[in-house]
Amino acid sequence: MAKAKTEFVCQACGSRSPRWLGRCTGCGAWDSLVEEVMDAKPLKARAPGDKGLARPITSVGAEKLERTPTGLGELDRVLGGGLVPGSVILLGGEPGIGKSTLLLQAARAVAESGRAVLYASGEESAAQIADRGRRLGALTDSLYIAATTELEAVLAAVDDVKPALLVVDSIQTLRSGSLDGASGTVGQVREVTSRLVDMAKQRGIPIVLVGHVTKEGSLAGPKVVEHLVDAVLAFEGDRGQGLRTVRALKNRFGRGGEVGVFAMTEDGLEEVPSPSKFLLGDRRTSLAGSVVASTCEGTRALCIEVQALVAPFNHGNPRRTTSGIDSARLAMILAVLERKAGLAFSTMDVYVNLTGGLRVDEPALDLAIGLALVSSLRGKPLPPEFAVFGELGLGGEVRAVGHLEARIREARALGFATCIGPASRERIDGLMPVRTLDEALAWIDR
Ligand code: TYD
Ligand code: MG
Repeated sequence: MAKAKTEFVCQACGSRSPRWLGRCTGCGAWDSLVEEVMDAKPLKARAPGDKGLARPITSVGAEKLERTPTGLGELDRVLGGGLVPGSVILLGGEPGIGKSTLLLQAARAVAESGRAVLYASGEESAAQIADRGRRLGALTDSLYIAATTELEAVLAAVDDVKPALLVVDSIQTLRSGSLDGASGTVGQVREVTSRLVDMAKQRGIPIVLVGHVTKEGSLAGPKVVEHLVDAVLAFEGDRGQGLRTVRALKNRFGRGGEVGVFAMTEDGLEEVPSPSKFLLGDRRTSLAGSVVASTCEGTRALCIEVQALVAPFNHGNPRRTTSGIDSARLAMILAVLERKAGLAFSTMDVYVNLTGGLRVDEPALDLAIGLALVSSLRGKPLPPEFAVFGELGLGGEVRAVGHLEARIREARALGFATCIGPASRERIDGLMPVRTLDEALAWIDR
């Protein structure tokens, strides 16, 4: 393909230059110029008699979205019921987490329903992909593989195959011939994404793009990619443990915050429709420092074990080690325990762990973390019939959280008769209401 006319645009101030410069002459920023295709399309004037674009909101009917299920219920849950025609989904995750495996399994399910699927990969050779396909039982005639790093070659393959689903693995390995830059540069990633988005919208083909994440956990490449796509999914998990989660960080066609849970096995990713059972499987009841929390991920309640270990420290600074929770949250909870319950942690090492390698960010986990810490400190378990939820305020008050019924229902289904949780106006079956941290802590001493 002939190279398009391009220019270099400063990402900080918008200044343009016909060639690349190390420093923007407009604002002085270093290394801020990115190659972009010059768009010379003139704006269309409106024809006389044309009523224009604007219309009353009441005259717009509901759009019926025909979704294509991916064959993986947990993935469909996150997507809001399947793939919407013409939608573009970005799936981000660390190397080795299972992105290619997940998408090949989804590709297989769609292909087995009789429609063509194109799996384009710049990461691996066709033989490597077919090898994985063999392992996953994904050898179907209507599943096509294109191993290439050229965007134009992918677009040509789409013309040939006319797929019902296109997978691009990964957005950082594709490059377009219209720009000079190497694949993975800001300009290329943006150009490739916007060309694929255009194609998806024109032809109504859903596309799943794989995106790499940096060490810090954010998606590599320009933020603008996240704005261009319809949904951003994060694939996470502890590589040592089997559990993997897919979370919707953004979803134009469904609700954000939904989580799908999988386990990595010898035969690919297996859905885990009842993660609580998986997460509490090895739990020994009545252990000091262990508290079951009833959390909520999206619309699904999840019971998970919080483990805390508080031990006297020897020298240096006391340790604060967390896995699965934010360390700033732990610092806040420790401060509240010190100031509002008069407990001393400053001479203690503190470890807090969510079992199963899951990460939970919701504040409703606070009270369970607090109780686990005090339970470990005192060497006394919480009675085994309790699960716990509730947010901790800085004043030591236990604050209300959403999805009360779902949390209590999930806890009961797993054999926890009562939840210790924030008091509400009416009496709720299965809830032991507490207004303050002190009231909750009293249960450890029973
Ligand atoms: P992969 O999907 O290649 O990860 P990504 O595309 O995110 O880099 O697979 C990740 C790991 O999963 C790999 O180390 C091998 C392992 N794996 C299994 O345990 N079982 C399987 O069936 C497959 C296909 C992979
Ligand atoms: Mg991969």
